[in-house]
Amino acid sequence: MPTAEHCNLRIPGPTPLPPEVQEATSRQMINHRGAEFATLLREVIAGLAPIFQTTGDILLFAASGTGGMEAAVANTVSPGDKVLAVSIGAFGDRFAEIAAAYGANVVKLSVPWGQAAEPEAILWELQAHPDCRVMLVTQNETSTGVTNDIAAIGSALRTLGDRAPLFVVDAISALASIEMNMDGWGCDIVVAASQKGLMSPPGLALVAVGPRVWPYVEQCKSPRFYFDFAAARRYLAEGSTPATPAVSLVYAMHRALGLLAAEGLEQVYARHRRLAAKTRQGLKDLGFSLLADEQYASDSVTAAYLPAGVDGAAWFKKLRQEYGIVLGSGQGPLKGKIFRVAHIGYVTESDIDHVLAALQAMLHVNPSVA
Ligand SMILES: Cc1ncc(COP(=O)(O)O)c(C=O)c1O
Repeated sequence: MPTAEHCNLRIPGPTPLPPEVQEATSRQMINHRGAEFATLLREVIAGLAPIFQTTGDILLFAASGTGGMEAAVANTVSPGDKVLAVSIGAFGDRFAEIAAAYGANVVKLSVPWGQAAEPEAILWELQAHPDCRVMLVTQNETSTGVTNDIAAIGSALRTLGDRAPLFVVDAISALASIEMNMDGWGCDIVVAASQKGLMSPPGLALVAVGPRVWPYVEQCKSPRFYFDFAAARRYLAEGSTPATPAVSLVYAMHRALGLLAAEGLEQVYARHRRLAAKTRQGLKDLGFSLLADEQYASDSVTAAYLPAGVDGAAWFKKLRQEYGIVLGSGQGPLKGKIFRVAHIGYVTESDIDHVLAALQAMLHVNPSVA
């Protein structure tokens, strides 16, 4: 059986690390209050700015992506505030749950899984609830492999002028694989994480904060300390973080950003588009049915239904043991019904060929399992 080290890890995060990034994680520690770290942090922020496409503040927290989502809520939502949570799957539901945990009055727009949110439906909800202060949207819903059109949602919001709520976007499984244009599309907060398109280990949450957010932060009554945006911004101005940063992860991301810049962002997005199309076509050619409405199909992850009558656990185990392939399973109501092939981050044509060939072999060699 292939060791974990030699597997084709095709889950939607953590994604495989390029060797240069792996090496960067093992560097010696430095003084996190010293000049070297300040330079490192500034270079990381400068490398991230064109990926978010923002001139706003980019704050780093040692946390998983969920920590970044919680930070976005804790700094903008006071108990009793009305929040529109647009959910197209498991991670949209999570954002709604976080807002509820902070005492928000959550209005939820739930879209059937596999579909994207229509900007008109969002506008309709906001017209019905003009007192919504904050709106939470997922750019790429990892549980279903569907991408919302954040540009179109941003345009719709602009028609509301000053009455538009803060536009908070979870781009955790999109950033650096699917374009984000935070300033151009009118997003106010964009949350991302290190372990997906950014080809780094898990543990860094990145929260980009636009100018419209700061008055909300000042007024926000929700308790926060570690995740306080104002403190993070104050320290960032000095090239540091309020608490000890995850130095190894910052080193790793610095190296990964270098690799992304060398490839060129347009090429990075084109590679993801190409591999996503290849995955969808390959799965369809093998007879699998895709979950997502193809019009909104994700460039970072593809979900397909398991063949009828298949024992999902045995199927995933066989793929791992005999072919060295690790795929994502279904979440929530899709558990045991689907599999997900991630094509995000450090991934090439041959990784996808390997998956498709193994699935073909599973279907033909042992139809009782496949
Ligand atoms: C779209 C989306 N949001 C949120 C999360 C949660 O991130 P984390 O597991 O890093 O907390 C994930 C993780 O897969 C995700 O894909």
